[in-house]
Amino acid sequence: MEITGKSKIMFVLADPIDHVRASAVINAYFRSIGDDVAVSPLHVLPGDLGAVVASIRLMRNVFGFGVTIPHKTRVIEHLDEITSTARMIGAVNFVKRTAEGRLVGDNLDARGFIESLLECDVAVRNRKVLQVGAGGAGRATAFGLAEAGVAELTIMNRDEEKARALAAAVVAQYPATKVSAGRAEARAFDLIVNTTSLGMKADDPLPLDIEGVGPGATVSDIIVNPAVTRLMAKAIEQGAKTIGGKSMLDAQMVLVARLIAR
Ligand code: ATR
Repeated sequence: MEITGKSKIMFVLADPIDHVRASAVINAYFRSIGDDVAVSPLHVLPGDLGAVVASIRLMRNVFGFGVTIPHKTRVIEHLDEITSTARMIGAVNFVKRTAEGRLVGDNLDARGFIESLLECDVAVRNRKVLQVGAGGAGRATAFGLAEAGVAELTIMNRDEEKARALAAAVVAQYPATKVSAGRAEARAFDLIVNTTSLGMKADDPLPLDIEGVGPGATVSDIIVNPAVTRLMAKAIEQGAKTIGGKSMLDAQMVLVARLIAR
């Protein structure tokens, strides 16, 4: 990769930094589409976030930056504007720097998730969806699913109060969608989505029981590594369609490319 004065520069802000893989994936993606973009991870401590963001504002060849743990919410106070999607989700994962130096925060998780389903030919509109998890990632997928027009969304979470709060927030924005919180039998749904961290480690228990889920249903797991989680392996065994977390990341890359092209 040749980085020159003509390259569009981006960053990924994180703490800790060791686990950050997004920069490598984004660099490979932009190389593959022949776009002159270079991304570098930046190790930024929470207390330094404001100063770093203020500096990036002054860097005229920077087109944007990704934001990850633990900065997704705290970054908002340092930006000029956030999109309505980022406001609903309560977190920003990509900031676009305009030519004038304005910083606009967006959250591409929701759109990336829905695009990845559509790209894999999984219909979302009018479908019954069971989502496990109500954390940061779960907030994004829940709003994304409601926006995409699902008929029913059931949110199941270990901490049930969090599931109820998320369901209420989604219904407030999308009153036409039937949203509920609580335990449910996976076999009654068209699409099952895992947004919990269960499945990252080989000995994690399954995030939910998918007994009876078979052909005709889709199991989506937003975990990126491993590419095939235990939940997905079980779904495949039972004849269901599966989608892993990498598709969601890939879809977000396309969105970033579109955002910085403007
Ligand atoms: P992220 O931003 O990646 O979504 P998070 O906000 O910490 O991370 O959310 C993690 C999700 O995984 C939550 O839904 C969490 O459930 P709780 O809200 O009950 O904590 C879920 N999760 C994590 N570990 C879990 C476990 N051992 N069993 C069940 N759910 C778990």
